[in-house]
Amino acid sequence: MPSPTPHRWLRRPGPRTPSGEQAAPGTHAPTGLSYGADYNPDQWPHEVWDEDVRLMREAGVTVVSLAIFSWARIQPSEDTWDFAWLDEVMDLLHENGITVDLATATASPPPWLTTKHPEVLPQTRTGETLWPGARQQWRPTSPVFREHALRLVERMAERYADHPALVAWHVSNELGCHNVYDYSDDAAAAFRAWLRDRYTTLDALNDAWGTAFWSQRYGAWEQVLPPRLAASHPNPTQQLDFKRFSSDALRDHLRAEAAILRRVTPDVPVTTNFMVMGETKGMDYAAWADDLDFVSNDHYVLPGPQALDELSFSANLTGGIARHRPWFLMEHSTSAVNWQPVNVAKKPGELARDSLTHVAHGADAVCFFQWRQSAAGAEKYHSGMVPHAGERSRLFRDVVALGATLRDLAPVAGSLQKPARAAIVFDWDSWWTSELDSHPTDRLRYRQEALDWYSAFLALGVRADVVPTATDLAGYDVVVAPVLHVVPAALRDRLTAFVEGGGHLVTTYFSGVVDQDDHAWLGGYPGALRDLLGIRVEEFAPLLDGESATVELAGEQLEGTLWTEPVDVVDPDVEVLGWYKTGEQAGRAAVTRRTVRAGDRTGSAAYVSTRFGRLGLVPVLARLLDDAGVRSELPAAVRGEVELAVRTDGTDDYWFLVNRTARPVEVPGVTGDVLAGRRLAAPATTGADAPGALLLDPRGVAVVRRAAEAATA
Ligand code: GAL
Repeated sequence: MPSPTPHRWLRRPGPRTPSGEQAAPGTHAPTGLSYGADYNPDQWPHEVWDEDVRLMREAGVTVVSLAIFSWARIQPSEDTWDFAWLDEVMDLLHENGITVDLATATASPPPWLTTKHPEVLPQTRTGETLWPGARQQWRPTSPVFREHALRLVERMAERYADHPALVAWHVSNELGCHNVYDYSDDAAAAFRAWLRDRYTTLDALNDAWGTAFWSQRYGAWEQVLPPRLAASHPNPTQQLDFKRFSSDALRDHLRAEAAILRRVTPDVPVTTNFMVMGETKGMDYAAWADDLDFVSNDHYVLPGPQALDELSFSANLTGGIARHRPWFLMEHSTSAVNWQPVNVAKKPGELARDSLTHVAHGADAVCFFQWRQSAAGAEKYHSGMVPHAGERSRLFRDVVALGATLRDLAPVAGSLQKPARAAIVFDWDSWWTSELDSHPTDRLRYRQEALDWYSAFLALGVRADVVPTATDLAGYDVVVAPVLHVVPAALRDRLTAFVEGGGHLVTTYFSGVVDQDDHAWLGGYPGALRDLLGIRVEEFAPLLDGESATVELAGEQLEGTLWTEPVDVVDPDVEVLGWYKTGEQAGRAAVTRRTVRAGDRTGSAAYVSTRFGRLGLVPVLARLLDDAGVRSELPAAVRGEVELAVRTDGTDDYWFLVNRTARPVEVPGVTGDVLAGRRLAAPATTGADAPGALLLDPRGVAVVRRAAEAATA
C-alpha cells in the first residue's frame, strides 16, 4: 500500500453529512484541493519530461492522469510489454511530489488488436463498421475486447500496486463517448441476455414492448434485435430498452475493470470520468455512481447565452450524482477546445471562474485536458495548461495563479454541497423517452427545459440543487420536475407523499404521461400525475415553429411556445395562476396549482402547460417560490449577476460568489473570512460591525468562510 502523501484520495471515511450520515470511503481529499491534468508524456521526447515536472511544480500541480491512451505503447504487440518508460515517468512524478491517477489504458485498442480481431469494432445502426484511426473503436459487449482489456488492466494493477505515486485508478476514459450505441451481433446477443434478465419470459417482453402493434410479436429470443435501421419508426420500448441496455453494457465493462483493480489493489480508489455536460445522454450516471469510490466528471463550456448556466447546472448535477459528497473534476479546458464548429478562446478571468464554479458545487480536484498542448494529432488546437506558446504566456500565468488560489482554498477540501431549499429533478428515463420519435412534436429537448428552469433560479439568485430522481426529496421545500415524462406508480406515490408532507411540486407539459414501459397511462393526461395535479387534459396541442400563445400570469404577458394543452381543472382546490390569452386555448388555464392539505401540512402541486423558456420562466418561478416562502440568500442588488453556491463541513459554511458579468460587482452584507477575492473597507457611515462589501473582479469569484448555519434540507 502506498505511503500517505498530501492530496491523496484515500479510501478512508469521509466527513459526515449535515444529517449525520457517514460519507463513503474514498471521497475525501484531506489536505487540500487537488490540481492537475491529463498527462501524455508518450507524445513527447524524453527531454521534455524534466521541463514538464519543473513547470508542474511552478503551477502547483498535485495530481496527473497518466497513460489514458497508452495501450499501443505499453503493449506494442500481443506478447510484448514495455513498461520502462512508464516506470520512469511514475518515478519522476513521485520524486517531484506529484501523485498519479493512473489510467487502465484500455480506452483505445492498438492496431495489432483490431487487425487481428476486427470483430471487436463497433457497428452503427445502418451496419457500418467504425474503423480504427480515431479512438474508442471497441464494442462494449465484445468478449474478445474484454479479454484483452482485462489482461492489460491486470498487468497495470500488478505493476504499479505498490508505487508510491499511485493515488487512484482511472478506468478507461469517458466510457461511451464514441461507442455507446453498438448494433453488432455481439450487441444483439448481449441485448437478448439483458432482456431475459429483465423480463424472464418472452410473453413479458411482448407485453412490455406492445408487440401486438404492427405484427411484431416475438416467438423466440433469437428473433429479438437491437433497433437497427428499419423501414419506419422502430418500436419505442425496444428503443428505450436498448438505451437502458447500452448504458448497462458500458457499466458492466466498468465493473469488470474495477473488480480486477479492487482485487489487486484493494486500498486504491477507483474512478472513471463521467461526461455530465450538454446533450451527452447515453450513460445513466446516476446508476453508475455506486460502482465508483469517488465520482469524476469532465466538462467543457458550450458557447451560447446559457454557457455559464450550463456549466453550473452540470457541476451541480454531478454533485447530486455524488450524493453531495466531494467529486473530482477530471477534465475541463484552460481555453479553446478543438471539436466545436468554432472554437472560442476563453476570455480573461474565465479560466479561474469556470474552475471555481466546479469547486463551488463540490469539486475537490480541478484538472484539465491536458497538461501540454499536443504538437501533432487531432487535438493540436485544443488548449492545455502549457500552450504552444510555452511558459511565457498569459495562459500559463493564469494556470499558475489558479494553482495559488486553490492552495488558499485548502480548508474547503472535503466539505459537502450544502443542500438548498429547492431542487430540480433530473431523470434519465424521461430524457431518453420524451425525445423518442413519433411523438406530438420532435422539437422537445428534455435537458434544455431543465436547464431553462435552472437559469430562472440563477436569475432570481435562489439556490437549487440538481438531483437524480432517486434522491430523497423529503427535505426540500420546492421540487421542480420538468418534463417528468416517465412516471411509474412508485414515483407517483413518492411525489404524492412529498406533496402530502408539505412539499411544493412543480411539473410541466408532457409529464406523467407514460409508465416504465413507455405505455400511456389511460383516462386523460397528465396520466399518473392527473389526480395529484387536479387537472385533466384530453388532447395535446403542440405548436408549430413560429407559433406562440400569450399567457397572463402575475400581471405579466408571457409567450408560450412548443406546446399548449386544453387544461380542464377538475379539483376544487386548484387555483389558476396563468391564463391563455391568445390562440386555440384562449380563456383556459395555462398554469395551475392544487393546494394539498394533509393533517397540519399544506403542500401544493403546480403544472405549467407550455414552454416559457429561460426568460419567461423567471416570473413564473418567482411566483411559485414566493408562495412557498423560498427566498434568495443574496442581496437584492446582485441577484442574477452573482451566483451563490454553498459548501459546508458542518462547522463552517463556504460561500462561493461567482460574478457572472464582465464588470466588477460589489456584494454588500456578506460576513465571514475571505479565502479568495477581496473585501472593501466598510464605509464610515455603517455600524462598527458591518462588513465591507466583497469586490468581485470581472468574471471573478470570492470565497468566504462563515460559521455554519443549520442545513435547511
Ligand atoms: C474528452 C476526452 C479527452 C479529450 C478532450 C478534448 O472527451 O476525454 O481525451 O479528447 O475531450 O476536449
